[in-house]
Amino acid sequence: MPSEVNNSEYLLEAKALGKQFPGADSVISVLDGVDFALRPGESVSIRGESGSGKSTLLNVLSGLERADSGQLFWEGKDVTKYSLSKLAAARTRFMGFVFQAYYLAPELNALENVLLGARIAGRVDASVRERAEALLIRVGLKERIRHSSTKLSGGERQRVAVARAMINDPVTGIS
Ligand SMILES: Nc1ncnc2c1ncn2[C@@H]1O[C@H](COP(=O)(O)OP(=O)(O)OP(=O)(O)O)[C@@H](O)[C@H]1O
Ligand SMILES: [Mg+2]
Repeated sequence: MPSEVNNSEYLLEAKALGKQFPGADSVISVLDGVDFALRPGESVSIRGESGSGKSTLLNVLSGLERADSGQLFWEGKDVTKYSLSKLAAARTRFMGFVFQAYYLAPELNALENVLLGARIAGRVDASVRERAEALLIRVGLKERIRHSSTKLSGGERQRVAVARAMINDPVTGIS
Protein backbone atom coordinates (compact mmCIF):
# COMPACT_ATOMS: atom_id res chain seq x y z
CA MET A 1 0.00 0.00 0.00
CA PRO A 2 1.65 3.30 -1.01
CA SER A 3 2.16 5.76 1.83
CA GLU A 4 0.54 9.23 1.89
CA VAL A 5 3.63 11.05 3.14
CA ASN A 6 7.26 10.12 2.77
CA ASN A 7 9.94 11.76 4.83
CA SER A 8 12.58 11.97 2.15
CA GLU A 9 14.98 14.85 1.61
CA TYR A 10 13.55 15.45 -1.84
CA LEU A 11 11.70 18.55 -2.89
CA LEU A 12 10.06 16.65 -5.67
CA GLU A 13 9.93 12.91 -6.15
CA ALA A 14 8.19 10.67 -8.62
CA LYS A 15 7.97 6.92 -8.52
CA ALA A 16 7.13 4.62 -11.39
CA LEU A 17 5.22 7.19 -13.41
CA GLY A 18 3.22 5.90 -16.32
CA LYS A 19 1.44 7.94 -18.97
CA GLN A 20 -0.23 6.81 -22.15
CA PHE A 21 -2.02 8.69 -24.91
CA PRO A 22 -4.52 7.28 -27.36
CA GLY A 23 -2.93 7.18 -30.82
CA ALA A 24 -4.69 6.80 -34.18
CA ASP A 25 -4.33 2.98 -34.23
CA SER A 26 -2.84 2.07 -30.88
CA VAL A 27 -2.03 3.40 -27.43
CA ILE A 28 1.18 5.44 -27.21
CA SER A 29 3.11 4.70 -24.04
CA VAL A 30 5.05 7.90 -23.37
CA LEU A 31 6.16 7.42 -19.74
CA ASP A 32 6.79 3.87 -18.61
CA GLY A 33 7.94 3.53 -15.01
CA VAL A 34 9.79 6.82 -14.68
CA ASP A 35 11.52 7.48 -11.34
CA PHE A 36 12.69 11.03 -10.69
CA ALA A 37 13.94 12.93 -7.65
CA LEU A 38 15.09 16.47 -7.04
CA ARG A 39 16.76 17.89 -3.91
CA PRO A 40 16.39 21.55 -2.86
CA GLY A 41 18.81 23.74 -4.79
CA GLU A 42 19.56 21.10 -7.39
CA SER A 43 19.46 21.87 -11.12
CA VAL A 44 18.56 19.13 -13.52
CA SER A 45 18.25 19.07 -17.28
CA ILE A 46 16.31 16.44 -19.15
CA ARG A 47 17.50 15.43 -22.59
CA GLY A 48 15.79 13.29 -25.15
CA GLU A 49 14.85 13.10 -28.79
CA SER A 50 11.89 15.06 -30.09
CA GLY A 51 8.73 13.18 -29.15
CA SER A 52 10.45 11.13 -26.43
CA GLY A 53 8.26 12.56 -23.65
CA LYS A 54 10.12 15.49 -22.04
CA SER A 55 7.16 17.88 -22.08
CA THR A 56 4.84 15.10 -20.94
CA LEU A 57 7.16 14.35 -18.01
CA LEU A 58 7.32 18.03 -17.00
CA ASN A 59 3.54 18.35 -17.30
CA VAL A 60 3.07 15.37 -15.01
CA LEU A 61 5.77 16.44 -12.49
CA SER A 62 4.14 19.87 -12.22
CA GLY A 63 0.63 18.47 -11.89
CA LEU A 64 -0.62 20.02 -15.13
CA GLU A 65 -1.49 16.52 -16.30
CA ARG A 66 -2.18 13.46 -14.24
CA ALA A 67 -0.12 10.33 -14.58
CA ASP A 68 -2.01 7.11 -15.32
CA SER A 69 0.08 5.28 -12.73
CA GLY A 70 2.80 5.90 -10.18
CA GLN A 71 3.17 8.41 -7.37
CA LEU A 72 4.18 12.06 -7.22
CA PHE A 73 5.43 13.77 -4.05
CA TRP A 74 5.86 17.53 -3.54
CA GLU A 75 7.81 18.29 -0.37
CA GLY A 76 7.09 14.76 0.76
CA LYS A 77 3.34 15.02 0.26
CA ASP A 78 1.69 12.56 -2.05
CA VAL A 79 -0.25 14.81 -4.43
CA THR A 80 -1.30 11.93 -6.67
CA LYS A 81 -4.70 11.69 -5.06
CA TYR A 82 -5.34 15.44 -4.70
CA SER A 83 -8.49 16.73 -6.37
CA LEU A 84 -7.85 18.92 -9.41
CA SER A 85 -8.71 22.08 -7.46
CA LYS A 86 -6.45 21.18 -4.52
CA LEU A 87 -3.67 20.30 -6.92
CA ALA A 88 -4.08 23.62 -8.79
CA ALA A 89 -3.95 25.58 -5.51
CA ALA A 90 -0.81 23.72 -4.39
CA ARG A 91 0.78 24.24 -7.78
CA THR A 92 0.49 28.04 -7.70
CA ARG A 93 2.47 28.04 -4.45
CA PHE A 94 4.96 25.28 -5.25
CA MET A 95 5.70 25.53 -8.92
CA GLY A 96 6.81 28.01 -11.56
CA PHE A 97 6.54 26.76 -15.11
CA VAL A 98 7.91 28.01 -18.42
CA PHE A 99 6.05 26.38 -21.28
CA GLN A 100 7.70 25.27 -24.51
CA ALA A 101 5.17 27.43 -26.38
CA TYR A 102 5.29 30.35 -23.84
CA TYR A 103 1.49 30.76 -23.61
CA LEU A 104 1.63 34.50 -23.11
CA ALA A 105 -1.74 36.25 -23.33
CA PRO A 106 -1.54 38.16 -26.65
CA GLU A 107 -3.77 41.04 -25.55
CA LEU A 108 -1.56 41.79 -22.55
CA ASN A 109 1.81 43.51 -22.39
CA ALA A 110 4.92 41.99 -20.81
CA LEU A 111 4.22 43.35 -17.32
CA GLU A 112 0.57 42.29 -17.39
CA ASN A 113 1.60 38.78 -18.44
CA VAL A 114 3.95 38.52 -15.47
CA LEU A 115 1.20 39.82 -13.17
CA LEU A 116 -1.16 37.19 -14.54
CA GLY A 117 0.84 34.61 -12.60
CA ALA A 118 0.15 36.53 -9.38
CA ARG A 119 -3.47 37.28 -10.24
CA ILE A 120 -4.18 33.55 -10.57
CA ALA A 121 -2.77 33.09 -7.06
CA GLY A 122 -4.85 36.08 -5.84
CA ARG A 123 -1.81 38.18 -5.00
CA VAL A 124 -1.81 41.50 -6.85
CA ASP A 125 -0.81 44.59 -4.87
CA ALA A 126 1.77 47.37 -5.21
CA SER A 127 4.62 45.17 -3.97
CA VAL A 128 3.81 42.45 -6.50
CA ARG A 129 3.79 45.07 -9.24
CA GLU A 130 7.24 46.23 -8.15
CA ARG A 131 8.45 42.65 -8.02
CA ALA A 132 7.12 42.01 -11.54
CA GLU A 133 9.03 45.01 -12.88
CA ALA A 134 12.17 43.93 -11.02
CA LEU A 135 11.89 40.42 -12.48
CA LEU A 136 11.52 41.82 -16.00
CA ILE A 137 14.60 43.97 -15.45
CA ARG A 138 16.44 40.92 -14.14
CA VAL A 139 15.70 38.97 -17.33
CA GLY A 140 17.01 41.91 -19.39
CA LEU A 141 13.67 43.42 -20.48
CA LYS A 142 13.94 46.87 -18.85
CA GLU A 143 13.18 48.51 -22.21
CA ARG A 144 10.22 46.20 -22.95
CA ILE A 145 8.21 46.28 -19.72
CA ARG A 146 5.05 47.62 -21.42
CA HIS A 147 5.71 46.15 -24.84
CA SER A 148 2.88 44.17 -26.43
CA SER A 149 3.65 40.48 -25.98
CA THR A 150 2.85 39.84 -29.65
CA LYS A 151 5.67 42.18 -30.67
CA LEU A 152 8.36 40.55 -28.56
CA SER A 153 10.96 38.25 -30.10
CA GLY A 154 10.83 34.53 -29.31
CA GLY A 155 13.59 34.77 -26.72
CA GLU A 156 12.02 37.86 -25.17
CA ARG A 157 8.71 35.99 -24.84
CA GLN A 158 10.54 33.11 -23.22
CA ARG A 159 12.09 35.56 -20.73
CA VAL A 160 8.69 37.08 -19.90
CA ALA A 161 7.53 33.50 -19.26
CA VAL A 162 10.53 33.00 -16.92
CA ALA A 163 9.60 36.17 -14.98
CA ARG A 164 5.99 34.97 -14.76
CA ALA A 165 7.16 31.61 -13.44
CA MET A 166 9.05 33.41 -10.65
CA ILE A 167 6.42 35.94 -9.62
CA ASN A 168 4.87 33.82 -6.88
CA ASP A 169 8.27 32.98 -5.42
CA PRO A 170 7.67 29.25 -5.90
CA VAL A 171 8.74 26.66 -3.36
CA THR A 172 7.88 28.69 -0.31
CA GLY A 173 5.84 25.75 0.89
CA ILE A 174 2.68 24.00 -0.20
CA SER A 175 1.16 23.16 3.16
N1 LIG B 1 -2.27 14.93 -25.81
C1 LIG B 1 -1.64 14.02 -26.57
N2 LIG B 1 -2.34 13.09 -27.25
C2 LIG B 1 -1.71 12.15 -28.00
N3 LIG B 1 -0.37 12.07 -28.14
C3 LIG B 1 0.36 12.96 -27.47
C4 LIG B 1 -0.21 13.99 -26.66
N4 LIG B 1 0.77 14.72 -26.13
C5 LIG B 1 1.92 14.18 -26.57
N5 LIG B 1 1.69 13.13 -27.39
C6 LIG B 1 2.69 12.28 -28.02
O1 LIG B 1 3.54 11.81 -26.98
C7 LIG B 1 4.91 11.84 -27.35
C8 LIG B 1 5.71 12.67 -26.37
O2 LIG B 1 5.37 14.06 -26.55
P1 LIG B 1 6.14 15.20 -25.77
O3 LIG B 1 5.47 16.47 -26.14
O4 LIG B 1 6.21 14.84 -24.32
O5 LIG B 1 7.60 15.09 -26.43
P2 LIG B 1 8.91 15.99 -26.20
O6 LIG B 1 10.00 15.06 -25.73
O7 LIG B 1 8.60 17.16 -25.35
O8 LIG B 1 9.24 16.44 -27.70
P3 LIG B 1 9.86 17.82 -28.29
O9 LIG B 1 11.35 17.75 -28.02
O10 LIG B 1 9.55 17.71 -29.73
O11 LIG B 1 9.18 18.97 -27.62
C9 LIG B 1 4.94 12.35 -28.78
O12 LIG B 1 5.10 11.24 -29.65
C10 LIG B 1 3.59 13.03 -28.99
O13 LIG B 1 3.16 12.87 -30.32
MG1 LIG C 1 8.53 19.22 -25.71
